[in-house]
Amino acid sequence: MAADPITFLVLGTGRMAHRHAAALAKIRAAPERVDGEPVPVILGVYGRTPARLREMFEEHGADFTSDHLEGSIARYDVDVVDNCLVNRLHHGPLMQAVAAGKHVFTDKPLGATLAESEDLCAAVLASGARHGIVQNMRFQGGPQAAKAILASGELGRVFHARVVFGYYVPARVTNRPPWFFKHEEAAGGVVHDMMAHFYDLLEWLIGPAASTHCLTFDGIAEREDPASGPFRSEVEESCSVNLRFQNGAIGQVFSSWVRRRHEDVPTISIDCEDGGLLITANRCWVQRGGGPLFFYDPAAEQGDPMDGWTPVPTTPRDPFEVQLRAFVRCAATGADYSPDWTEAVRTHRWVEAAYESAASGREVSIDGA
Ligand SMILES: NC(=O)c1ccc[n+]([C@@H]2O[C@H](COP(=O)([O-])OP(=O)(O)OC[C@H]3O[C@@H](n4cnc5c(N)ncnc54)[C@H](O)[C@@H]3O)[C@@H](O)[C@H]2O)c1
Repeated sequence: MAADPITFLVLGTGRMAHRHAAALAKIRAAPERVDGEPVPVILGVYGRTPARLREMFEEHGADFTSDHLEGSIARYDVDVVDNCLVNRLHHGPLMQAVAAGKHVFTDKPLGATLAESEDLCAAVLASGARHGIVQNMRFQGGPQAAKAILASGELGRVFHARVVFGYYVPARVTNRPPWFFKHEEAAGGVVHDMMAHFYDLLEWLIGPAASTHCLTFDGIAEREDPASGPFRSEVEESCSVNLRFQNGAIGQVFSSWVRRRHEDVPTISIDCEDGGLLITANRCWVQRGGGPLFFYDPAAEQGDPMDGWTPVPTTPRDPFEVQLRAFVRCAATGADYSPDWTEAVRTHRWVEAAYESAASGREVSIDGA
């Protein structure tokens, strides 16, 4: 006998909506089981453009599509609203879902502003519904393997961590949605977008942060939206963020949309007293003990920096499937989900602290950190 179905309504027909719908289609094909019983998943999609809705219907076999948000929540007896709209359309639709008593899952950031995130979190805690936030990087093979090694304690005290993220977005914005450069829809630049991932990821790996410092760089002022023409970029496009952790470690994150080279997202190195880690999305290397000692000789070839580093077995996975599968289970059983909206609010407070630091030039902490 199958358990009661869980009906999802994915909001949006863009990049992330496709990611979420594809993950839900995989879960529908191989259902999550609770007490041995499969939990059927029903997939609905809300969007404003019929052609885009048709694409979602055909590519992911959506069970229903709708261009009317309130109407579809009621008509299809939706259990979970999953928001993949632009940042400025997180608060309104999620508040509607919470008011209708639905479970809520959303891509990051929770709200466009900290006030919106706090408002959403307070509302969902009062409602008693399950709530989840996408933190896909936590659930990829590389970070999962690194977390297990760090948690075992075998590498000893963490000294520092360094994250490098970036790629080049030309003036004519063709390799990411142009709205990310517009304040009205994005509500912030690369700090808002990428530190919503990296504050979370670094606290999850290393422990609670104590303070942060941030420098920003504006990037390319005159940009072009292929659909609507020239516009002025209204957001910071690069940042250099420092963190101090409560356990004494320090961290640095460099993020940029105008960086010429790119790495895997994320790429992190962590240095510890008894070894180190190099982490990419689906790979992880560990250095245990010392490794070959480096001697600087300006006249000599300097050797392979990966000497002494061993690959750690990892399991490549679709992090959206992992997160949504766990959310199906929580919606079916009533169990708590993590990462939840209280964690999203904490990350958003750090993002605000980064902006405050960029404005004041000072290192900033958050209340209760
Ligand atoms: N987890 C990640 O790695 C990751 C990566 C990229 C984006 N995101 C987040 O996912 C969300 C969506 O980003 P995306 O890259 O998919 O953007 P996108 O531009 O591809 O999709 C945005 C969606 O919002 C819809 N939309 C915009 N204005 C609308 C309106 N007025 N009414 C109804 N629908 C409207 C668009 O039609 C589209 O379906 C954002 O919050 C973003 O921060 C997360």
